[in-house]
Amino acid sequence: MKPIAIDPQLFVGNRERLRGLLPPKSVVVVNANDILPTNADGSLPHVQNADLFYLTGILQEESILVLAPDAYEEKHREILFVREPNELALIWEGHKLSKAEATGISGIRTVKWLAEFPTVFRSLMCEAEQVWLNTNEHARAADEVETRELRFLRACQRQYPLHQYRRLARLVAALRVVKQPQELELLRTACQITGLGFRRLLKFVKPGVNECEVEAELAHEFLRHKGGFAYNPIIATGANNCVLHYNVNDQVCEAGQLLLLDVASAYGQYNADLTRTIPVSGRFTPRQRQVYDAVLRIFRGVVEQMRPGKTTRDLRQLTERLAERELIELGVLKAEEVARQDPDAPLLRKYFMHGVAHPLGLDVHDVGAPAAPIAPGWVLTCEPALYLREEGFGVRLENDILVTESAPIDLMVDIPIEADEIEALMAS
Ligand code: GLY
Ligand code: MN
Ligand code: MN
Repeated sequence: MKPIAIDPQLFVGNRERLRGLLPPKSVVVVNANDILPTNADGSLPHVQNADLFYLTGILQEESILVLAPDAYEEKHREILFVREPNELALIWEGHKLSKAEATGISGIRTVKWLAEFPTVFRSLMCEAEQVWLNTNEHARAADEVETRELRFLRACQRQYPLHQYRRLARLVAALRVVKQPQELELLRTACQITGLGFRRLLKFVKPGVNECEVEAELAHEFLRHKGGFAYNPIIATGANNCVLHYNVNDQVCEAGQLLLLDVASAYGQYNADLTRTIPVSGRFTPRQRQVYDAVLRIFRGVVEQMRPGKTTRDLRQLTERLAERELIELGVLKAEEVARQDPDAPLLRKYFMHGVAHPLGLDVHDVGAPAAPIAPGWVLTCEPALYLREEGFGVRLENDILVTESAPIDLMVDIPIEADEIEALMAS
């Protein structure tokens, strides 16, 4: 994914909103993510710490943001530390940010080289009472790797054991979950590029194409618009479309199968998240169409309820109620069995076993407050599905929805979802 110029006022405003949540005598430190090693001298492409990006717009590795709103030295109230460019880095890695460029991107006036960090930080710590440091608090993060943030936190606590340490993640998550207008623009562009990719596939998919060729078409379309896969694409034909995180993407698409595409582009660090399920031969069988339309009805019923005050748990319960009704209509579940089911293990969960909505933004499963009521400015996915493994196929649909004061806005409303439209476009 390519760097995109963003108005620095976004980052200026984000820092201002964070300062509004801090008690007096606070110091905040946010570190870049590490460049992760692979084998030998290999490394993964650098993925910036989303919180650092949110507060600065800076993508360069090793950068550090320090906020100390009550610092005695006025120019130390907001400091960005970056790598000092040098000849060797220039030859091997290319251009590194100058101080003026770092100011231009972030709106931070005081930019220093990293070598100055220990001295400046010590003077700020002598004034500070509360130190706000960052940890990954995503409920499903299962990482054992010590991040740069965690290394810094441990070193800081060793060096300054008597300060009061506080959790920055909660504050930044509460801000990030409500999208600013500039962020919505970037998300809309990510959705548009995703739509271009999907429309390209409707012309490309036919019996005999390999899932990896489908992936290559998408990569081409996303990249030429300065996008790139928002996450590992799931391109699953036939029975594999019931494998929730399938991403081998190397099977031949056969006539009569359904192809599940959970594929989306990012743009300027913001991620779209789309799922469509299309017939490989261009027409749904009558049974596939029944199931497809059932999932589309669930999708529409849930989107309609994505309104302020609801929680994602409410949305999941609603999805399950709707899915149960559809499964009975489809003859998959019997009404009498449902009436007798264990409420703690409802029968529908064999056919729909995941959540229906997650926040979306700088991360695909974005930070937020899972138990909090949803509010205007949240962007959530809506992704109901029915997986009928006994019948050899599943259907999932997923769009990205902006919650507003009134009716929800579907950011993917232009991406074909009606079965008739998909068939018509595949035939054209
Ligand atoms: N593509 C990941 C998800 O839908 O949550
Ligand atoms: Mn999703
Ligand atoms: Mn998805």
